[in-house]
Amino acid sequence: MKILGIETSCDETAAAVVAEGTKILSNQIASQVEIHARYGGVVPEVASRQHILSIIPILEKAMSDAGTTWKDLSAIAVTIGPGLAGSLLVGVNAAKAIALAHGLPLIGVNHLEGHIYANWLDNQSIDFPVICLIVSGGHSDLVLMRGHGDYVILGRTRDDAAGEAFDKAARILDLGYPGGPAIERAARGGTASIPLPRAWLKGSGDFSFSGVKTALLRLVEAGKISSVADGAASFQGAVIDVLVTKTLVVARERRVKQILLAGGVAANGLLRKWLVECSPLPVLVPPPVLCTDNAAMIAACGYYRLKAGKSGGLDLDVVPSLKLA
Ligand code: KG4
Ligand code: ZN
Repeated sequence: MKILGIETSCDETAAAVVAEGTKILSNQIASQVEIHARYGGVVPEVASRQHILSIIPILEKAMSDAGTTWKDLSAIAVTIGPGLAGSLLVGVNAAKAIALAHGLPLIGVNHLEGHIYANWLDNQSIDFPVICLIVSGGHSDLVLMRGHGDYVILGRTRDDAAGEAFDKAARILDLGYPGGPAIERAARGGTASIPLPRAWLKGSGDFSFSGVKTALLRLVEAGKISSVADGAASFQGAVIDVLVTKTLVVARERRVKQILLAGGVAANGLLRKWLVECSPLPVLVPPPVLCTDNAAMIAACGYYRLKAGKSGGLDLDVVPSLKLA
């Protein structure tokens, strides 16, 4: 069963064809990062206009790379939220047009659920129940997953998401955009020697990263950070310490079998290494290119939804503030 996935929730125009929910036949991503970098962040109006320019060429490339015809497809899975309304609309309308023209079922996918399903690509074997740590530009969620499509939210961010905190810290340290990869690169040349606060929020699965960001800002303003590399390493270490420690506490409490890492921040090498080394349970992490936004993860999620008999019609609409559970 081949599914075409479409993802346009933020600043990547992406299309992919995935077979049986696990095998990537093509995975095309047109990044807008250079366009938004000059503004220091994603400009929604610019993003939606760019999606309009990229969507058709990206779809055509994804189909030709996969050696697939429209007749070979079983369904189209598209991100309906959460994300930027104008950006989501481009993907959803493209999906509807293809579904109408070729009589295919439509599956609306939650972007965060898509991030989790990146773990099914690459044929990893997953054993429920699992704890998923979803860390992206807009979310830091701890989720108990008891089966396909069965989620219990155990914690979320109370202020800045992990990726957002990385992006803001990079701005404070003048490292440019996008901040996560810039902090990780700079940190390689430094040591985590600057004491920064950690918000443990004991007894709760929630996260808070605005305090560590503000602490970094105050130190920079006071001229107390002599090395940008040490600043980056200390910030990265503080955020990852909290993410890993709280994930392991919740995994132990819930007696799960595995831990799944997902979302753009899961591309961070130190987070991946730290979690794998500290966890007594198996930790699954998609390859970095499948952690950041892509459409293969949307197609993978769509496959399990279709198998569960859940598909929709042409009344599908975007839901910019869509919740996972
Ligand atoms: O999942 P994603 O691609 O888009 C959203 O759904 O938000 O995540 C993007 C976020 C950005 O905040 C980016 O700075 C962060 O993921 N990120 C990283 C790394 N690569 C991307 N954060 C830390 N280390 C990285 N290597
Ligand atoms: Zn994402």
